[in-house]
Amino acid sequence: MKTSILMLTISALSVGFSAAAEPIQIIQPAKITEPEKVELGKMLYFEPRLSKSGFISCNSCHNLSMGGVDAIPTSIGDRWQQGPINAPTVLNADFMLAQFWDGRAKDLQEQAGGPIANPKEMGFTHELAVKTVASMPAYRQKFAKVYGSEAVDIDKITDAIAAFEKTLVTPNSPFDKYLNGDEQAISADAKTGYELFKSHGCVACHNGPAVGGTSYMKMGLVKPFHTDNPAEGRKAVTGKESDKMVFKVPTLRNIELTYPYFHDGSVWSLAEAVNTMSELQMGQKLTEQETAQMVEFLKTLTGEQPQIVLPILPPSNETTPLPQPFSKG
Ligand code: HEC
Ligand code: HEC
Repeated sequence: MKTSILMLTISALSVGFSAAAEPIQIIQPAKITEPEKVELGKMLYFEPRLSKSGFISCNSCHNLSMGGVDAIPTSIGDRWQQGPINAPTVLNADFMLAQFWDGRAKDLQEQAGGPIANPKEMGFTHELAVKTVASMPAYRQKFAKVYGSEAVDIDKITDAIAAFEKTLVTPNSPFDKYLNGDEQAISADAKTGYELFKSHGCVACHNGPAVGGTSYMKMGLVKPFHTDNPAEGRKAVTGKESDKMVFKVPTLRNIELTYPYFHDGSVWSLAEAVNTMSELQMGQKLTEQETAQMVEFLKTLTGEQPQIVLPILPPSNETTPLPQPFSKG
């Protein structure tokens, strides 16, 4: 017993640090067990006819060519309506303890039903979404293959989309290679940045394989965050005054790609986001060099982006509900 503990200690020391003991873990590639379901989910993810306008798909706001975001402060929804909050990335979203900034959906499947029927997003109804998909024989055949019956319903639509989203993992970032023992994978500045990220306490909230998504925390722990955005965070879910401005800690994976930052999308520069965090969450002012080193570290969290072959969607026919891109209501 004693010897094995000793041997473990020695082997941990010999590699400099033990990856398992770090607050950030290597992100593992997705294991695809149901390829046909994933393929169907991909079609639905890119399907603009799940929206009233026939123009907005999940990919409109979670663009997989751009880190799974729309890269604007708040999204543009049905009839060019302004969305209430910044769109978080769908990349690695399955690693989050719950979905949405306030965690109001328990998982990806529950989440996926939301935007379709949200009047400010895709502006459709679940009934019409089902009718649209079911109107196309090529879809019905795919549902039959995956679910054993041609019948389309909203639970199957969201289940397939969730299965696709679970594959949107970004492994093999320079930082993962570093955790895996490749000392050359990141620069000296990035290594110092990581040490600062730990010693300044950022890891208290940004930890785990997604470097976030493991807890709800207050935005503005030490100093208040000033914003015009009316979002109240977890308070909207729990009703508790103490949950005001408490948000799900966002993932910092691919953070270089997912600007603008914070739930109100108010900050465009990563350096400014790091400084804001340091001042508001821990009351510390970083030197210019420390900020630059933390940014260098954060950039090493950009992983291999999902390689997507664009799905070819079946054509509409006489039974497919018509798009209403310019309807008044
Ligand atoms: C009009 C833009 C828009 C469209 C279209 C849209 N989303 Fe979103 N999505 C958002 C916004 C904004 C949020 C954050 C809302 C909130 O937290 O209250 C979000 C949140 C999410 C999240 C939660 C991520 C996290 O970390 O909490 C997931 C997952 C997601 N969307 C997937 C989808 C899927 C799947 C579709 C298609 C069915 C879709 N979205 C369509 C804008 C959009
Ligand atoms: C007490 C918990 C906590 C600590 C400590 C903390 N953060 Fe955060 N971080 C959050 C929360 C919560 C948000 C989301 C806030 C919002 O959008 O209103 C966030 C957001 C961010 C963002 C923007 C992410 C995005 O996608 O918009 C960055 C970058 C960031 N933090 C980096 C850091 C750094 C660097 C440190 C250390 C200096 C740090 N954080 C310390 C909780 C924390």
